[in-house]
Amino acid sequence: MSRYIIEEVMEGHSVFKDRAKLSIDYIPSKLPHREEEYRLLTHWFRPVLENPRSQSLRVVIRGKIGSGKTVLSRRFGMDVEAYAQEQKTKLLYTYVNCRLEGSFFNVIKFVIRDKLKKMFPGRGYSAEEALHVLMDILDDEDLCLILALDELESIIRREGSDPIYAFTRIQEERDKLAPRLSLISIFREPDCEDLLGSLDKSTLGTLQKNIIRLDGYSTKQLEDILFDRVEEAFYPGSVDHETISLIADIVGARGDARYAIELLERAGVYADTDLSKQVLPEHARKAAAAVYPGVELETLDRLDTHQKLLLLAIARRLKYSKAAYTTTGEVEEFYRLACEEHSKEPRGHTQLWKYLNDLSYDGLILAKISGEGVRGKTTLIGLPGIPAEALEHEIQRVMKAA
Ligand SMILES: Nc1ncnc2c1ncn2[C@@H]1O[C@H](COP(=O)(O)OP(=O)(O)OP(=O)(O)O)[C@@H](O)[C@H]1O
Ligand SMILES: [Mg+2]
Repeated sequence: MSRYIIEEVMEGHSVFKDRAKLSIDYIPSKLPHREEEYRLLTHWFRPVLENPRSQSLRVVIRGKIGSGKTVLSRRFGMDVEAYAQEQKTKLLYTYVNCRLEGSFFNVIKFVIRDKLKKMFPGRGYSAEEALHVLMDILDDEDLCLILALDELESIIRREGSDPIYAFTRIQEERDKLAPRLSLISIFREPDCEDLLGSLDKSTLGTLQKNIIRLDGYSTKQLEDILFDRVEEAFYPGSVDHETISLIADIVGARGDARYAIELLERAGVYADTDLSKQVLPEHARKAAAAVYPGVELETLDRLDTHQKLLLLAIARRLKYSKAAYTTTGEVEEFYRLACEEHSKEPRGHTQLWKYLNDLSYDGLILAKISGEGVRGKTTLIGLPGIPAEALEHEIQRVMKAA
């Protein structure tokens, strides 16, 4: 019945050149702002890269959500395998998500079956025995392995520190046999704090010797990451620069690259739905509103009349200009018009400043000082998580009801 829609959409224009480049599984060839950490990781693993059987190393990567822990370890792993192949050393890398595998036993099973393509002995084995099977295979095949255990906190939460203990002990037990297993343990902060605190000192000591800590990304860093992705995933010129900055600003202090890339993709879909050839700031606002409702509509009710009028002016100004940000001067003009429309006497400049501060404090607007350049230093005003048009509509509704 509605099949024509599918045909219409499929024949229509899209801003996306290759949307898969925005998927969480995609591992970009370069990672802006993680080069230093990548370098550090390489230095730590240098002995293993030189001679895989020389030692067994353990490195911890920890950081906040979306700070690039997974992508850093996977990029490193892919590059390490390629390097080892060139050098003709028998070094492998395996990435396992512990939360998805669910148990230490399943982790080992995954490595044996999926990575090494060997028969897994099956049930009736304990996790520790399975680990011995894994080591035997490595010995038989003369292989070395860097094993990345992502979201390791989920297994520690379920099974305690035994699995980690088993990993750290196995090398000691092997006595004269060559070291073959190195670990990259990945923890998400702050979830892991209490868990790591509960581990016994010696396990913690072996685990925590080499730590790489990833901070959340700054707005500027997020912009760089987004620029790279835009180039890979979108047709040239189809994402407005302002849209990229706005997305970075919306993500803001969360520093979460995943959220930023999600917003970018969603904004692209809204642009396509709008039949727009460009992804505009309004599409990003729509995307943010759809992912996390940024504006609690009840807060609108609590605003006094002039705060509402000012917000209405901001929404209208942004809708009209289609830009990511507007300035106080531009808003004042729209504010005076809104006052006229509602037969209110406009408030003075100082009072408006106070209102802007209040709105920003309530999270209803984004306010920031512009960088030097385009407009000198001035306060820029944008909207966090709601399309200008939707906000305009909401304020009008609330004002009518009052
Ligand atoms: N420096 C970077 N350059 C390019 N893309 C990045 C960078 N950092 C993160 N990303 C991208 O951001 C998204 C989130 O990164 P990643 O999955 O590595 O975060 P994480 O720290 O593992 O988060 P979580 O704690 O939720 O597991 C991925 O799509 C990843 O490709
Ligand atoms: Mg991760």
